[in-house]
Amino acid sequence: MTTHKAHCLMLPYPFQGHINPMLQFAKRLQSKRVKITIALTKFFLKNMKELPTSVSIEAISDGYDDGGRDQAGSFVAYVTRFKEVGSDTLSQLIQKLENCGCPVNCIVYDPFLPWAVEVAKNFELVSAAFFTQNCAVDNIYYHVHKGVIKLTPTKNDEEILIPGFSSTIEASDVPSFVISPEAERILEMLANQFSNLDKVDWVLINSFHELEKEVIDWMSKIYPIKTIGPTIPSIYLDKRLHDDKKYGLSIFKPMTNECLNWLNHQPISSVVYVSFGSITNLETEQMEELAWGLKNSNNNFLWVVRSTEESKLPKNFIEELTIEKGLVVSWCPQLQVLEHESIGCFLTHCGWNSTLEAISLGVPMVAMPQWTDQPTNAKFVKDVWEIGVRAKQDEKGIVRREVIEECIKLVMEEEKGKLIRENAKKWKELARNVVDEGGSSDKNIEEFVSNLVTIS
Ligand code: UDX
Repeated sequence: MTTHKAHCLMLPYPFQGHINPMLQFAKRLQSKRVKITIALTKFFLKNMKELPTSVSIEAISDGYDDGGRDQAGSFVAYVTRFKEVGSDTLSQLIQKLENCGCPVNCIVYDPFLPWAVEVAKNFELVSAAFFTQNCAVDNIYYHVHKGVIKLTPTKNDEEILIPGFSSTIEASDVPSFVISPEAERILEMLANQFSNLDKVDWVLINSFHELEKEVIDWMSKIYPIKTIGPTIPSIYLDKRLHDDKKYGLSIFKPMTNECLNWLNHQPISSVVYVSFGSITNLETEQMEELAWGLKNSNNNFLWVVRSTEESKLPKNFIEELTIEKGLVVSWCPQLQVLEHESIGCFLTHCGWNSTLEAISLGVPMVAMPQWTDQPTNAKFVKDVWEIGVRAKQDEKGIVRREVIEECIKLVMEEEKGKLIRENAKKWKELARNVVDEGGSSDKNIEEFVSNLVTIS
């Protein structure tokens, strides 16, 4: 029987892209003998297609047990109601765990739900904010919170100087909510992540020091920041480690056999993997351009089109697609795909998890950011880490098929893409080193655990 050193209750924001890194961090803590309980909303739990066997899951309420987030009508309405109902149900859960002899020592919460700090304080628990986005993006929202960056419906090429960044960045590179006047309330909520951050014991970030040195060092002067990423299952980083290859907590069912069987028949580094994550929706016109860009390119492709997006594909696209040329699936085991030797590049929306996963597995990228933090991530992919190109939108905001073809060619084939491919390999090595024993992220996790042990 495992004796646990401490017990962490984790509160992820119920988005697939926020749950995945929290679950992987949970598994890493568990490997260091910390007991984990994950609190998930009833609606999310009801809709799970994959559940992990290794961690305990408990239900709390966000006030939308039957219809889920969509019923709220807006992000702001959802977060507001979650605060009202969530605080009580989270407190009841902590009490229940206490009563059954599994007292909690610490709450690790997603800063989209800042009220969790108050709950932790009421029960005199350690609190740790877990930022699922990278430090550069967090730094931008911090400056919105401080009033240094104002909502600016600026021209795309206007240069903005952000403290903590070594050079200015263009307005088109900041998170979309910062430059969309209609997103004022959402931006307010995102800035609110910092509203009580001075009360927390730990600020954990899913990134690693080597990746964002400057901005991490800058923010560390304000908050007790610890980078603990990349949070992907350790088996992908070190084959000697025994770990579950699956994410294990998903509302989508991956078409694992179909994808892997198809990839097994493709030559090395020949396939373009395409995915826009779990929530981003493309315009129908963009979907069409992408479809033809992929079909016209020299390379075969594996494309994830979620079932809710399928109707936007050009008429007969799937029927006319030969199995030699491409495969369209509704969801895939992304890490297993990215690590497959047949993958040559990743055409991605640059959600932070996808970006970090590609970095960790050494896959060069074609960035097609759509909204939220994705433009900032794409900027770093192209200009800072130099592991990809960014497909340019036209004045209507659409990336045309010729541009897509050209970008894929550059990353996959041309001499110009050689440096990008080499850099991708270099970052893969660095990502492995940081989670290895004694690496920067491993040390931070060790410190976090030792501290929990001392107080428990
Ligand atoms: C959201 C936001 O859109 C993103 O910008 C932010 O950084 C995180 O929250 P999402 O759009 O889902 O996330 O993208 P991403 O962060 O890339 O997360 C998607 C996750 O789903 C990844 O962990 C990826 O491995 C997984 N995935 C995706 C699959 O397992 N299978 C798929 O077919 C597609």
